[in-house]
Amino acid sequence: MKSLTISDHQISEPLQFIDKPVPQAKSGQVVVQVKAAALNHRDQWIREGKYPNIQMGTTLGSDGAGVVSALGEGVDSIWLGKEVIINPNRDWGTNSNVQSAQYNILGMPTDGTLAEYVLVNADRLVEKPVHLNFEEAAALPLGGLTAFRAVFHHGQCVKDQHVLISGVGGGVAQFAFLFAKYTGAQVWVTSGSQEKITECIRLGAQGGFNYKEEDWTNEAKKAGGFDLVIDSAGGDQINTFIKLMRPAGRIVFYGATTGIPSQLDLHRMFWNQITLQGSTMGNDTEFVKMVDFVRMHEVRPIIDSVRSFDEAISAFDEMKSGSQFGKLVLSL
Ligand SMILES: NC(=O)c1ccc[n+]([C@@H]2O[C@H](COP(=O)([O-])OP(=O)(O)OC[C@H]3O[C@@H](n4cnc5c(N)ncnc54)[C@H](OP(=O)(O)O)[C@@H]3O)[C@@H](O)[C@H]2O)c1
Repeated sequence: MKSLTISDHQISEPLQFIDKPVPQAKSGQVVVQVKAAALNHRDQWIREGKYPNIQMGTTLGSDGAGVVSALGEGVDSIWLGKEVIINPNRDWGTNSNVQSAQYNILGMPTDGTLAEYVLVNADRLVEKPVHLNFEEAAALPLGGLTAFRAVFHHGQCVKDQHVLISGVGGGVAQFAFLFAKYTGAQVWVTSGSQEKITECIRLGAQGGFNYKEEDWTNEAKKAGGFDLVIDSAGGDQINTFIKLMRPAGRIVFYGATTGIPSQLDLHRMFWNQITLQGSTMGNDTEFVKMVDFVRMHEVRPIIDSVRSFDEAISAFDEMKSGSQFGKLVLSL
């Protein structure tokens, strides 16, 4: 079967299509024929060698949707032929608050979804919501889960709150935007692209600000302060958010794309009782709840583009440039 793997880092940003045998399901496992897969920035970090524990020859990909094509011993026969999405969590562990030391994500170090078939434990399967096609369903797992935990578990998002989603063009951020909006919060966005802001307003955002413009915070102040900010850029912009918060507001961050802040406005934080909260992925219960939420509200992921598996490398390049809006999906 055709699979997209990470190869020798002697070459700059190495990705290679290689032929691998179709995996065989052992006890408790299933083989899923991948119909669509989606990219996450994690895949690009791995491509650049900026991820821990990279194993050369591993098939990349954490996001996938498809049809169960083979069952290992002990797996309920009801799954055979089912249309599914795959929970990319592996070994979250028993503490719902934080992942175990063994925690890892499908697609490194184990073979992932950027292949015609993927092997997973049967308990990773969730039935595909019927309102989504395979391409839309494949967009959901990693980004949806990360956004769900950030918005609800840590962010405690509820109706009518003022919420700011930073860098809404990102694969996770667009889900944070959609989840907060479907909860009835009043949602503003930031982006480096006016087009993405305009599209979010069309989809129900109250307004948006271009973080590349010097005076964007003056505009943002007119929103009357935020109860919740969801961010993955990090850097000194965190201090801007601290200034924009309502008292007792929460800043939840799940990435630090622009690095660590050179300083942190602790005075304003303690006086205004601001929480700065890190978040990573989500536990298995949250994955099921996230899919239920998507099903109940008939949420449709924002998809930048769907292209053929052969064009996967161009999708990686686009993600690196940051020009996409929403998820980059590959159809197999
Ligand atoms: N902790 C976790 O579990 C977890 C899970 C998923 C991702 N992450 C991390 O979160 C980050 C985003 O991941 P992703 O997959 O969503 O990436 P992505 O799809 O590549 O999105 C990156 C987005 O970051 C935004 N951005 C860039 N510079 C910014 C700035 N100065 N201020 C605000 N936004 C800025 C851009 O938004 P605009 O296009 O709107 O300008 C861009 O589209 C990565 O660092 C990733 O490793 C962590």
